[in-house]
Amino acid sequence: MLLAAAGFGVGGALAAVADPHSLANLDAFRVRHLDLSLEVDFKARRLSGTVDLQVERLDAAAAELVLDSHDLVIRQVWWLVGGQPERELSFAKGAAVPSLGEPLRIGVPTGVRGETFGVRISYQTSPEAGGLQWLEPAQTAGRVAPFLFSQSQSIYARSWIPLQDSPSVRATFTARVHVPPGLRAVMGASNALTASTDGWYHFEMPQPIPSYLMAIAAGRLDVREIGPRTAVFAEPEVVAEAAYEFADTERMIEACERLYGPYRWGRYDLLILPPSFPYGGMENPRLSFITPTLLAGDRSLVATIAHELAHSWSGNLVTNATWRDFWLNEGFTTFLERRIVGALYGASLEAMEQDLGLQSLRRQLAGLPPRSQVLAIDLRGRSPEEGTTDVPYEKGRLFLDWIESRIGVAALDGLLRDWFESRAFQSASTEEFRDFLLTRAATLAPGALDVAQVDEWLYQPGLPAFAVLKTSDVLARIDAQREDWLAGRSTLDSLPVTQWRTQEWLHFLDGMPADLSRERAAQLETQFGLNGVRNAEIAFSWLRIAIRADYRPAWPRLEEYLVSIGRRKLIWPLYSLLVKTPDGRAFAQQVYARARPGYHPIAAASLDPLILGKASTP
Ligand code: BES
Ligand code: ZN
Repeated sequence: MLLAAAGFGVGGALAAVADPHSLANLDAFRVRHLDLSLEVDFKARRLSGTVDLQVERLDAAAAELVLDSHDLVIRQVWWLVGGQPERELSFAKGAAVPSLGEPLRIGVPTGVRGETFGVRISYQTSPEAGGLQWLEPAQTAGRVAPFLFSQSQSIYARSWIPLQDSPSVRATFTARVHVPPGLRAVMGASNALTASTDGWYHFEMPQPIPSYLMAIAAGRLDVREIGPRTAVFAEPEVVAEAAYEFADTERMIEACERLYGPYRWGRYDLLILPPSFPYGGMENPRLSFITPTLLAGDRSLVATIAHELAHSWSGNLVTNATWRDFWLNEGFTTFLERRIVGALYGASLEAMEQDLGLQSLRRQLAGLPPRSQVLAIDLRGRSPEEGTTDVPYEKGRLFLDWIESRIGVAALDGLLRDWFESRAFQSASTEEFRDFLLTRAATLAPGALDVAQVDEWLYQPGLPAFAVLKTSDVLARIDAQREDWLAGRSTLDSLPVTQWRTQEWLHFLDGMPADLSRERAAQLETQFGLNGVRNAEIAFSWLRIAIRADYRPAWPRLEEYLVSIGRRKLIWPLYSLLVKTPDGRAFAQQVYARARPGYHPIAAASLDPLILGKASTP
């Protein structure tokens, strides 16, 4: 079945995209630039200030500018003339739509199509804003100062800025942000490497970006340069560790530039967040936000840096038009990430990452309804976050691997380079890529791509039977070693674990049968001291085994893990295994009561129904 293309023409070069996750009237107006002026109030847990929007008019007759907003307090709206408020405009917030927020309707004079006008909105955020997390000093490494960070993807920018919150809209921005003395503010924009003396920070983002990339953070931050265009921002307690861990970042940029064209954003810095950051990484432009759980001490988890960096091409430069097209961001980025890993660390590690990704995808596909297994996923009536499974990432990547196998690696790299170049700073839909691919492939490798097979990748559930699956010899050896132990043919002390890399450990543990006995789990812990492992990914794989085997000596470590880490991918699966048994559920509820105040609102919202059996907010 072919889904109809989501785009419809509005005439001229302006194509409006129907975005089911925005309440804004995108067909009548386009926000082109934002100028923010914000005060960070840690005591009240609010951002408060103004945003000036430069708006292009697409529809001459439209008398109402409708913006996205979620839990914002709107104080006043003005019509701007020459950048100055000229008169107040009437406005009203419409009824709340579950998970989408409240449409903010602003009365504006009608005008001429193509003209640009300015409005100023004075507003403040709610202490419960879904896209912001306000941390107490105790939740930071230094424990002396509070911390704030945003997470706008997918539709949370509207909880801290009134705007058109759709990835089909791009705008440039400038900002002035004021923070208490001694603290530093950063944004996904130009960041000064020196601290201000008066608490005011200025930012510029001259390249147009989609709203989900709007990002801000503030806290006690230090900065350390690690390359000619790269620095890490982090609390002073972790900045040296982070500078060591991510020392390869410049080499990653160079590797990606060689393959897919110049890095278009100036600097590429990293911000290391406190452990409640709900993701592994977030590709905020010029400043990726990174979980501290990557700080393994041995640089073994840096594929995530390659991933967030790669979004500078796939996602930030060429952006999914709607969340239905999310695989264009994440599948491409996973493909690029693996190419960077291969270029820096060799084919063996690249193959391991591909293999681990495939195993993870297979495990997930087994439990996903068919409609969630489709690359061009229909998310109407659902939260965009429901699309964040391994499907867009690993199935998307496997689609590109399959194209590579049909037209050759050089042709695919060239095609992707042209895609990024020709669509730079634009949004694109699945169908636009499909057309581009089929047109290019017809000249690059006539007859190589079967249209029906391309469409099976894009529109059908599951993995096509003709997928090309790259597996790793090294991990196959690990499989054999695990099987030998499980079959009683070998003992744990005979395993060459001192030579294992993190990925080998992960594969060894992840491949354990779901019904592994408590005795077997105890042997693993006794032999390897798994309760003491600090690598957050290996600890996660171990704790999954321990929960399934009901191995209670791991529970103190499990509790410590769940209370200290807020990264959704690492905690959600542990809770969901725990709640399957009565004792486990009781333990999960007790730990959750302690841990929840430290979790990000996005993480808490997804965990509440699982553990408390109810939704957190209506
Ligand atoms: N853009 C995503 C994070 C994201 C996706 C946030 C959807 C909100 C909604 C980011 O690039 C990402 O994919 N992060 C991964 C790491 C990656 C190596 C798979 C993560 O956080 O686990
Ligand atoms: Zn990503």
